[in-house]
Amino acid sequence: MESVTNSTEPIIYLGPFQGITDVFYRNLFRQYFGGIDKYYTPFFTGFVNFSAGRARISEIDPDLNDVETTVPQILSKDAEEIIHFAEQCKVLGYSEINWNLGCPYPRVANKKRGSGLLSHPDIIESIFSKMNGNLALGLGVKCRLGYLSVDEFENLLPVFNNFPLTELTVHARIGKQLYKGSVYESAFVHLIGKTKANLVYNGDVFSVKDYNHFNETFESVHYWMIGRGLLANPFLAMEMKGLCRLDDSQKKETVRKFMHELFQIRLKNANGNLSSLGRMKELWSYLVWSFDSPLTAWRLIRKARNLDEYESAVNEVFSTLGWKGFGFESDRSW
Ligand SMILES: Cc1cc2nc3c(=O)[nH]c(=O)nc-3n(C[C@H](O)[C@H](O)[C@H](O)COP(=O)(O)O)c2cc1C
Repeated sequence: MESVTNSTEPIIYLGPFQGITDVFYRNLFRQYFGGIDKYYTPFFTGFVNFSAGRARISEIDPDLNDVETTVPQILSKDAEEIIHFAEQCKVLGYSEINWNLGCPYPRVANKKRGSGLLSHPDIIESIFSKMNGNLALGLGVKCRLGYLSVDEFENLLPVFNNFPLTELTVHARIGKQLYKGSVYESAFVHLIGKTKANLVYNGDVFSVKDYNHFNETFESVHYWMIGRGLLANPFLAMEMKGLCRLDDSQKKETVRKFMHELFQIRLKNANGNLSSLGRMKELWSYLVWSFDSPLTAWRLIRKARNLDEYESAVNEVFSTLGWKGFGFESDRSW
């Protein structure tokens, strides 16, 4: 494992992943791993109130979530909806919400939502002005460098700086890229020191080596949001903080127990429904990268069609493959 070159401990957030980092994942993650200072719920959308959709209540239920370190996220272009969301989150004990201005999918972005709003700073400004003074709790933004071009940020910066945001998380891609290609390092460097809110870097931190690289490139950035790298290697945040003392076989055993418990709890919650299998496979599509033969692991897991086949594929992966802990490739399609 690479050692960390920075002496100041980074502050690390776990990025939200629709369909993957649900409340069960987040809670078990806290139990088995660590190193994460703040967690975000996958986004809520079409929000009316929390009693309207039973499946989503658990995502926000204060009996199931640590309200101190969990931030509910909303995808919306309606100030009233965000204000209402904030009020309900406040009642439940939360102190901060996050506004998603980063979702890149065309069906979202084409409707001027998520990253699609980034080409329209005037609309963002008018949403802020309706929210100003009316939000029951703190608001952070998670965005990209633009939708069509990184040049869009020049007009976004004064809009973001004009609102008392708790933090500004920037995934250093543009919306049009989806999750492909490289992050724009120099465009991100350009932002450092210019944002009023705490600037959080997000994008392609897949290993301690990557973290060391970005940390040297983005001097004075202390806040990091990590996503796919941590789904692939759940020890990544601890490793970035120099806190992990386990050897590879202990890591593999910890991940085995974690994945087993996650599957059981999801199955139980879904009354045995096979949708839990799909969710586990989605997580596996990242986790396989930490094994010494990702393709073998993925072939075994992918073909499982029922619970028995899944259990036996998982047993085979853990008994025949070794834990490597890095190697995630974002552009690889199987
Ligand atoms: C399947 C998937 C689901 C995602 N869901 C969300 C989401 O609900 N809210 C959000 O802000 N970002 C979402 N993201 C983006 C991630 O949180 C993160 O910003 C992105 O993966 C870049 O960080 P990384 O390179 O560390 O993974 C999602 C990404 C993927 C691939």
